[in-house]
Amino acid sequence: MTDASRPPINLLGRSVRDKVPPRTAVTGMIDLGERDAAIFRLATPYLQTRENDAHTLYSYGFARALLGEIPEAEEHIVLPAIILHDTGWSTVIEQEALESIAPGVDRSVWGHLTIQHEKEGARIAREILTEVGIPAADIDEITQIIDGHDTRLTSLSLNDSLVKDADKLWRVSPHSITVAQPRFGLSAEEALLLCASRAYNELFTPQAKSMSRALIALASMTQSVEISNCYVREIV
Ligand SMILES: [Fe+2]
Ligand SMILES: [Fe+2]
Repeated sequence: MTDASRPPINLLGRSVRDKVPPRTAVTGMIDLGERDAAIFRLATPYLQTRENDAHTLYSYGFARALLGEIPEAEEHIVLPAIILHDTGWSTVIEQEALESIAPGVDRSVWGHLTIQHEKEGARIAREILTEVGIPAADIDEITQIIDGHDTRLTSLSLNDSLVKDADKLWRVSPHSITVAQPRFGLSAEEALLLCASRAYNELFTPQAKSMSRALIALASMTQSVEISNCYVREIV
């Protein structure tokens, strides 16, 4: 019997499957939906540098979580902006992009590449959003958010704050920590310390700060000596 066809282990000994709620009944479960899946499909060719496709999806998840807590923000602006914000990295040579995001980067040498990815991202976003049929006024707002999303240290609007926060929250996600390790030659703990130090203080909304604390707490405990010594039942 292959692993896939093996019935799941059930220590209880009877089925509780009929008690599992549908996805739509669970707060916080998300999928992309038709509009955003279409935008992501068109963005994908521009996101296949470093791990930007996965970074985009995780940031999208954080954006949706933030929108759930901050309903005054506008999802039709925030979500296309987060999907398209890093498409401009596709115009930068990968090793040079890595230099431009490295800790302690000399911005006088590499800063122009960060600006390039913002400006090219805004250009690519405009093309994709026009193809999808997004209204012109919304395209203007979305591309303004993308142009400067890393280098503009202030926020233009609540929508802009959510996009910035969703992008930065990724830094304390499990995915970011595993990406940072080989990227910069760090241990898991060093990667967590570096990533966490580059997230919390840059967040705009208290909701994102809470999420950041929860993610850092999760990662800290995952990396703790105590958790590695926890009792694990042996299942045969
Ligand atoms: Fe970026
Ligand atoms: Fe990003």
